[in-house]
Amino acid sequence: MRRARRVIIDTDPGLDDAVAILFALSCGRFEIVGLTTVAGNIGIETTTRNAGRLLALMGRADVPVVAGASAPLRRGGIEERAIHGDDGLGGVMLPAPQASPLEGAAAWMAKVLTEGAAHSIDVLALGPLTNIARLVLDHPEAAGRIGRLIVMGGAIDEPGNVGPRSEFNLACDPEAADIVLRAGLDTTLIPLDVTRKVRAGRDWLSALRASGGRAAGTCADLIEAYFASSGGRESRPLHDPCVMLFALQPALFAIDTRDVSVELGAGADAGALLTGRQDGVALRVALRVDAAGALRLLADGLR
Ligand code: BDR
Ligand code: CA
Repeated sequence: MRRARRVIIDTDPGLDDAVAILFALSCGRFEIVGLTTVAGNIGIETTTRNAGRLLALMGRADVPVVAGASAPLRRGGIEERAIHGDDGLGGVMLPAPQASPLEGAAAWMAKVLTEGAAHSIDVLALGPLTNIARLVLDHPEAAGRIGRLIVMGGAIDEPGNVGPRSEFNLACDPEAADIVLRAGLDTTLIPLDVTRKVRAGRDWLSALRASGGRAAGTCADLIEAYFASSGGRESRPLHDPCVMLFALQPALFAIDTRDVSVELGAGADAGALLTGRQDGVALRVALRVDAAGALRLLADGLR
Protein backbone atom coordinates (compact mmCIF):
# COMPACT_ATOMS: atom_id res chain seq x y z
CA MET A 1 0.00 0.00 0.00
CA ARG A 2 1.44 3.39 -1.05
CA ARG A 3 1.89 5.92 1.75
CA ALA A 4 -0.52 8.85 1.75
CA ARG A 5 1.10 12.07 0.55
CA ARG A 6 1.00 14.93 3.09
CA VAL A 7 -0.66 17.99 1.57
CA ILE A 8 -1.84 21.48 2.40
CA ILE A 9 -4.81 22.50 0.24
CA ASP A 10 -4.96 26.26 -0.38
CA THR A 11 -8.44 26.98 -1.66
CA ASP A 12 -11.39 29.34 -2.32
CA PRO A 13 -14.42 26.99 -2.30
CA GLY A 14 -16.08 27.37 -4.86
CA LEU A 15 -17.91 24.49 -6.58
CA ASP A 16 -14.92 22.87 -8.27
CA ASP A 17 -12.74 23.45 -5.21
CA ALA A 18 -15.37 21.56 -3.20
CA VAL A 19 -15.28 18.60 -5.60
CA ALA A 20 -11.47 18.58 -5.36
CA ILE A 21 -11.54 18.68 -1.55
CA LEU A 22 -14.15 15.92 -1.30
CA PHE A 23 -12.03 13.77 -3.60
CA ALA A 24 -8.94 14.40 -1.45
CA LEU A 25 -10.90 13.52 1.70
CA SER A 26 -12.46 10.38 0.33
CA CYS A 27 -9.81 8.76 -1.90
CA GLY A 28 -7.57 7.68 1.01
CA ARG A 29 -4.38 8.74 -0.77
CA PHE A 30 -3.75 12.10 0.93
CA GLU A 31 -2.95 13.03 4.49
CA ILE A 32 -4.47 16.51 4.61
CA VAL A 33 -2.42 18.62 7.00
CA GLY A 34 -4.85 21.53 6.71
CA LEU A 35 -7.06 23.62 4.46
CA THR A 36 -5.89 27.22 4.08
CA THR A 37 -8.43 29.58 2.61
CA VAL A 38 -8.18 32.63 0.39
CA ALA A 39 -10.62 35.14 -1.04
CA GLY A 40 -11.34 34.33 -4.66
CA ASN A 41 -14.53 32.86 -6.02
CA ILE A 42 -16.17 34.58 -3.04
CA GLY A 43 -15.09 36.47 0.09
CA ILE A 44 -12.82 35.00 2.75
CA GLU A 45 -15.54 34.48 5.37
CA THR A 46 -17.52 32.34 2.95
CA THR A 47 -14.58 30.35 1.56
CA THR A 48 -13.43 29.65 5.14
CA ARG A 49 -16.89 28.60 6.25
CA ASN A 50 -17.25 26.37 3.19
CA ALA A 51 -13.97 24.61 3.99
CA GLY A 52 -15.34 23.86 7.47
CA ARG A 53 -18.69 22.70 6.06
CA LEU A 54 -16.99 20.20 3.73
CA LEU A 55 -14.93 18.81 6.61
CA ALA A 56 -18.06 18.55 8.78
CA LEU A 57 -19.84 16.62 6.02
CA MET A 58 -17.03 14.09 5.90
CA GLY A 59 -16.64 13.86 9.69
CA ARG A 60 -13.14 15.38 9.51
CA ALA A 61 -13.33 18.36 11.85
CA ASP A 62 -9.89 17.22 13.05
CA VAL A 63 -8.37 18.80 9.90
CA PRO A 64 -7.62 22.47 10.68
CA VAL A 65 -9.04 25.27 8.55
CA VAL A 66 -6.83 28.35 8.52
CA ALA A 67 -8.16 31.60 7.10
CA GLY A 68 -5.81 33.55 4.88
CA ALA A 69 -5.87 36.64 2.70
CA SER A 70 -9.11 38.59 2.44
CA ALA A 71 -7.90 40.49 -0.66
CA PRO A 72 -5.18 40.30 -3.30
CA LEU A 73 -1.76 41.83 -2.52
CA ARG A 74 -2.30 45.09 -4.36
CA ARG A 75 -5.65 45.19 -6.15
CA GLY A 76 -9.35 44.64 -5.59
CA GLY A 77 -10.52 41.06 -6.02
CA ILE A 78 -12.82 39.54 -8.64
CA GLU A 79 -15.68 37.32 -7.45
CA GLU A 80 -17.51 34.60 -9.37
CA ARG A 81 -20.93 34.69 -7.67
CA ALA A 82 -22.75 34.07 -10.94
CA ILE A 83 -21.15 30.62 -11.20
CA HIS A 84 -20.63 29.59 -7.57
CA GLY A 85 -23.67 31.33 -6.00
CA ASP A 86 -23.87 33.72 -3.03
CA ASP A 87 -22.86 30.90 -0.67
CA GLY A 88 -19.99 29.79 -2.95
CA LEU A 89 -21.43 26.26 -3.21
CA GLY A 90 -24.47 26.74 -5.42
CA GLY A 91 -26.95 26.42 -2.53
CA VAL A 92 -26.02 22.77 -1.89
CA MET A 93 -27.02 21.79 1.67
CA LEU A 94 -24.07 21.00 3.94
CA PRO A 95 -23.72 20.85 7.73
CA ALA A 96 -22.32 23.81 9.65
CA PRO A 97 -18.59 23.74 10.50
CA GLN A 98 -17.85 21.81 13.68
CA ALA A 99 -14.67 23.68 14.58
CA SER A 100 -13.63 27.34 14.58
CA PRO A 101 -11.09 28.30 11.94
CA LEU A 102 -7.60 29.46 12.84
CA GLU A 103 -6.24 32.74 11.45
CA GLY A 104 -3.05 33.49 9.53
CA ALA A 105 -2.63 31.01 6.69
CA ALA A 106 0.89 32.04 5.65
CA ALA A 107 2.32 31.90 9.18
CA TRP A 108 0.56 28.59 9.81
CA MET A 109 1.96 27.10 6.58
CA ALA A 110 5.43 28.30 7.60
CA LYS A 111 5.07 26.56 10.96
CA VAL A 112 3.98 23.18 9.60
CA LEU A 113 6.54 23.28 6.78
CA THR A 114 9.28 23.99 9.31
CA GLU A 115 8.12 21.25 11.70
CA GLY A 116 7.87 18.59 8.98
CA ALA A 117 10.80 17.06 7.11
CA ALA A 118 11.96 19.27 4.22
CA HIS A 119 9.99 18.59 1.01
CA SER A 120 7.62 16.16 2.74
CA ILE A 121 4.51 18.34 2.29
CA ASP A 122 3.02 19.28 -1.08
CA VAL A 123 0.94 22.43 -1.52
CA LEU A 124 -2.10 22.05 -3.76
CA ALA A 125 -3.15 25.55 -4.83
CA LEU A 126 -6.75 25.85 -6.04
CA GLY A 127 -7.31 29.61 -5.80
CA PRO A 128 -5.58 32.98 -6.19
CA LEU A 129 -1.94 32.72 -5.06
CA THR A 130 -2.11 35.44 -2.37
CA ASN A 131 -1.42 33.18 0.66
CA ILE A 132 1.47 31.43 -1.04
CA ALA A 133 2.99 34.75 -2.12
CA ARG A 134 2.78 35.91 1.52
CA LEU A 135 4.55 32.70 2.55
CA VAL A 136 7.30 33.32 -0.02
CA LEU A 137 7.68 36.98 1.00
CA ASP A 138 7.46 36.62 4.78
CA HIS A 139 8.84 33.09 5.37
CA PRO A 140 11.14 32.29 2.42
CA GLU A 141 13.01 29.48 4.19
CA ALA A 142 9.78 27.71 5.06
CA ALA A 143 8.52 28.17 1.50
CA GLY A 144 11.69 26.48 0.26
CA ARG A 145 10.68 23.36 2.24
CA ILE A 146 7.54 22.79 0.12
CA GLY A 147 7.66 19.45 -1.72
CA ARG A 148 5.68 19.94 -4.90
CA LEU A 149 3.65 23.10 -5.52
CA ILE A 150 0.83 22.22 -7.90
CA VAL A 151 -1.16 25.22 -9.08
CA MET A 152 -4.46 25.36 -10.97
CA GLY A 153 -4.01 28.51 -12.98
CA GLY A 154 -3.26 30.20 -16.27
CA ALA A 155 -3.82 29.47 -19.92
CA ILE A 156 -0.96 28.68 -22.30
CA ASP A 157 -2.23 27.91 -25.82
CA GLU A 158 -5.87 28.31 -24.84
CA PRO A 159 -8.08 31.41 -24.46
CA GLY A 160 -8.62 32.76 -20.94
CA ASN A 161 -11.80 32.68 -18.88
CA VAL A 162 -11.54 36.26 -17.52
CA GLY A 163 -9.81 38.19 -20.31
CA PRO A 164 -8.86 36.99 -23.78
CA ARG A 165 -5.73 35.33 -22.31
CA SER A 166 -6.18 35.55 -18.55
CA GLU A 167 -7.45 32.82 -16.23
CA PHE A 168 -9.37 33.55 -13.00
CA ASN A 169 -6.91 32.42 -10.29
CA LEU A 170 -3.96 34.33 -11.74
CA ALA A 171 -6.12 37.28 -12.84
CA CYS A 172 -7.39 37.73 -9.28
CA ASP A 173 -3.92 38.42 -7.96
CA PRO A 174 -1.33 38.85 -10.74
CA GLU A 175 1.35 40.22 -8.37
CA ALA A 176 1.02 37.16 -6.13
CA ALA A 177 1.23 34.87 -9.17
CA ASP A 178 4.38 36.66 -10.32
CA ILE A 179 6.03 36.24 -6.90
CA VAL A 180 5.12 32.57 -6.58
CA LEU A 181 6.04 31.52 -10.11
CA ARG A 182 9.46 33.21 -9.76
CA ALA A 183 10.16 31.75 -6.31
CA GLY A 184 12.23 28.82 -7.58
CA LEU A 185 9.93 26.20 -6.03
CA ASP A 186 9.17 22.81 -7.54
CA THR A 187 6.11 24.19 -9.33
CA THR A 188 3.79 22.57 -11.87
CA LEU A 189 1.03 24.61 -13.47
CA ILE A 190 -2.27 22.96 -14.35
CA PRO A 191 -3.75 25.48 -16.80
CA LEU A 192 -7.06 25.74 -18.66
CA ASP A 193 -5.39 23.85 -21.55
CA VAL A 194 -5.96 20.64 -19.58
CA THR A 195 -8.72 21.51 -17.10
CA ARG A 196 -11.12 22.33 -19.92
CA LYS A 197 -10.64 18.80 -21.25
CA VAL A 198 -11.66 17.08 -17.99
CA ARG A 199 -15.39 17.69 -18.12
CA ALA A 200 -18.32 16.44 -16.09
CA GLY A 201 -21.16 15.48 -18.41
CA ARG A 202 -24.62 14.13 -17.67
CA ASP A 203 -23.66 10.44 -18.05
CA TRP A 204 -20.59 10.74 -15.83
CA LEU A 205 -22.69 12.54 -13.25
CA SER A 206 -25.45 9.91 -13.27
CA ALA A 207 -22.88 7.14 -12.79
CA LEU A 208 -21.27 9.09 -9.95
CA ARG A 209 -24.59 9.53 -8.17
CA ALA A 210 -25.48 5.88 -8.68
CA SER A 211 -22.18 4.80 -7.11
CA GLY A 212 -23.53 5.97 -3.73
CA GLY A 213 -21.73 7.41 -0.72
CA ARG A 214 -21.64 10.82 0.83
CA ALA A 215 -18.76 12.33 -1.16
CA ALA A 216 -20.06 11.10 -4.51
CA GLY A 217 -23.63 12.22 -3.80
CA THR A 218 -22.56 15.68 -2.65
CA CYS A 219 -20.26 16.07 -5.65
CA ALA A 220 -23.17 15.16 -7.90
CA ASP A 221 -25.24 17.90 -6.19
CA LEU A 222 -22.41 20.41 -6.59
CA ILE A 223 -22.02 19.62 -10.28
CA GLU A 224 -25.80 19.87 -10.82
CA ALA A 225 -25.55 23.36 -9.32
CA TYR A 226 -22.65 24.09 -11.69
CA PHE A 227 -24.80 22.98 -14.66
CA ALA A 228 -27.65 25.21 -13.46
CA SER A 229 -25.44 28.30 -12.98
CA SER A 230 -23.95 27.82 -16.45
CA GLY A 231 -27.28 28.33 -18.20
CA GLY A 232 -28.13 24.63 -18.12
CA ARG A 233 -24.99 23.52 -19.98
CA GLU A 234 -24.39 19.88 -19.11
CA SER A 235 -20.67 19.66 -19.73
CA ARG A 236 -18.56 21.63 -17.28
CA PRO A 237 -14.79 21.69 -16.78
CA LEU A 238 -13.47 20.26 -13.51
CA HIS A 239 -10.61 22.72 -13.04
CA ASP A 240 -9.47 22.23 -9.44
CA PRO A 241 -9.86 18.43 -9.21
CA CYS A 242 -7.14 18.20 -11.90
CA VAL A 243 -4.61 19.36 -9.29
CA MET A 244 -5.45 16.39 -7.06
CA LEU A 245 -5.37 14.02 -10.03
CA PHE A 246 -1.96 15.29 -11.10
CA ALA A 247 -0.68 14.94 -7.53
CA LEU A 248 -1.74 11.28 -7.48
CA GLN A 249 -1.08 10.21 -11.05
CA PRO A 250 1.18 12.60 -12.97
CA ALA A 251 1.33 10.15 -15.90
CA LEU A 252 -2.23 11.15 -16.81
CA PHE A 253 -0.80 14.50 -17.93
CA ALA A 254 1.78 15.45 -20.58
CA ILE A 255 4.13 18.03 -19.11
CA ASP A 256 6.26 20.49 -21.04
CA THR A 257 8.56 23.28 -19.90
CA ARG A 258 7.67 26.82 -20.99
CA ASP A 259 9.26 30.17 -20.23
CA VAL A 260 6.43 32.24 -18.78
CA SER A 261 5.95 35.60 -17.13
CA VAL A 262 2.80 37.16 -15.69
CA GLU A 263 1.12 40.21 -17.26
CA LEU A 264 1.10 42.82 -14.49
CA GLY A 265 -0.72 45.62 -16.33
CA ALA A 266 -4.19 46.93 -15.56
CA GLY A 267 -6.04 45.72 -18.69
CA ALA A 268 -8.37 42.80 -19.31
CA ASP A 269 -5.41 40.47 -19.59
CA ALA A 270 -3.89 41.24 -16.18
CA GLY A 271 -2.62 37.93 -14.84
CA ALA A 272 -2.25 36.34 -18.30
CA LEU A 273 0.76 34.12 -18.84
CA LEU A 274 3.10 35.56 -21.45
CA THR A 275 5.52 33.31 -23.27
CA GLY A 276 8.64 34.13 -25.25
CA ARG A 277 9.68 37.18 -23.17
CA GLN A 278 13.23 37.67 -21.94
CA ASP A 279 12.17 37.83 -18.30
CA GLY A 280 10.26 34.51 -18.46
CA VAL A 281 10.94 31.72 -15.94
CA ALA A 282 11.05 28.09 -17.00
CA LEU A 283 8.04 26.30 -15.52
CA ARG A 284 6.55 22.86 -15.91
CA VAL A 285 3.07 23.12 -17.42
CA ALA A 286 0.51 20.42 -18.17
CA LEU A 287 -0.51 20.72 -21.81
CA ARG A 288 -2.38 17.50 -22.48
CA VAL A 289 -4.39 15.06 -20.39
CA ASP A 290 -5.85 11.58 -20.66
CA ALA A 291 -9.32 12.96 -19.91
CA ALA A 292 -11.06 9.56 -19.74
CA GLY A 293 -8.42 8.27 -17.31
CA ALA A 294 -8.70 11.44 -15.22
CA LEU A 295 -12.50 11.14 -14.95
CA ARG A 296 -12.14 7.46 -14.01
CA LEU A 297 -9.66 8.23 -11.23
CA LEU A 298 -11.88 11.04 -9.94
CA ALA A 299 -15.00 8.88 -9.85
CA ASP A 300 -13.13 5.96 -8.23
CA GLY A 301 -11.79 8.21 -5.48
CA LEU A 302 -15.20 9.71 -4.75
CA ARG A 303 -16.91 6.34 -4.30
C1 BDR B 1 -10.40 28.57 -11.42
O1 BDR B 1 -11.19 29.71 -11.11
C2 BDR B 1 -12.14 29.41 -10.14
O2 BDR B 1 -13.37 29.99 -10.44
C3 BDR B 1 -12.19 27.91 -10.03
O3 BDR B 1 -12.48 27.51 -8.70
C4 BDR B 1 -10.82 27.48 -10.46
O4 BDR B 1 -9.93 27.45 -9.37
C5 BDR B 1 -10.61 28.24 -12.89
O5 BDR B 1 -10.19 29.30 -13.69
CA1 CA C 1 -10.70 27.51 -7.05
